[in-house]
Amino acid sequence: MRSRRITTHKIQAMTAKGERIPMVTAYDYTQARIVDAAGIPMILVGDSLGNVVLGFDSTIPVTVDDMVRHCAAVVRGSERALIVVDMPFMSYQVDAETALRNAGRLLQEGGAQAVKLEGGKPIAPIIRRLVDAGVAVMGHIGLTPQSVHKLGGYRIQGKTQRSADALIEDAFAIQDAGAFAVVLELIPVELAAEITKRLDIPTIGIGAGMYTDGQVQVLYDMLGLGLDFKPKHAGDYATLGLTAKDALERYAADVREGSFPTQANSFHVDLEPAAAEEAAAYGSTNAANVQHGV
Ligand code: KIV
Repeated sequence: MRSRRITTHKIQAMTAKGERIPMVTAYDYTQARIVDAAGIPMILVGDSLGNVVLGFDSTIPVTVDDMVRHCAAVVRGSERALIVVDMPFMSYQVDAETALRNAGRLLQEGGAQAVKLEGGKPIAPIIRRLVDAGVAVMGHIGLTPQSVHKLGGYRIQGKTQRSADALIEDAFAIQDAGAFAVVLELIPVELAAEITKRLDIPTIGIGAGMYTDGQVQVLYDMLGLGLDFKPKHAGDYATLGLTAKDALERYAADVREGSFPTQANSFHVDLEPAAAEEAAAYGSTNAANVQHGV
């Protein structure tokens, strides 16, 4: 069957025409269906699933098996969006052979169209090997969450001239290695604007201001699914966590007071007289059990 999905070339063509690219993460079938229905052209199956889905305090414990499973679910839930999947920690840094094997799994078993790798100049040779092998690659520089311990926390990158220059070099190294786009995470607006102006490939920002060619957000942050922390760069689009909590509280109260389910939520059948007696007996046993706290 021919794929109706948006291609990496289409993403580049959209950027060339001055169209801004919205992108969000998704981690399962149902989320992917919603994102696809909203007409978002690119979905990232992010290793942020380690934080928002699996409850780890970093992306480091995420495995290739995790990514393959979630990626395949997102692919099943979407028809149009280009699916980019994160290569998790140590699935590509060791050597090109390991990177090729793992990228192969993410494309063959996960069904993604492209992989994303974190890192600048040191990772460029790995990107080159993947691209030469026919893999579409998205780069990721600035705050690279897999290096959180080296970076000393989730902090803004490129604030000094020296680190800004290093990030510009990283961006060029990734482009020269053949990446089709690059994520710029948590860097100053001015630096993101400069990189975007100088690169030919699309830049996709997160916490990098308004001048990048596209934006990516973690779905859970953007929809306000978390009950406490929400990064300011995620915007103010929804507070679904509170909406869900309110719905669950009302459901629990209704069940406790017996006002849910109602007849409208129930199914009926005309029972034979014997079965009706049994059902009535079952009902009274149940009622007795409730009375006796069983
Ligand atoms: O894993 C992820 O969600 C990401 C985004 C923060 C870009 O890499």
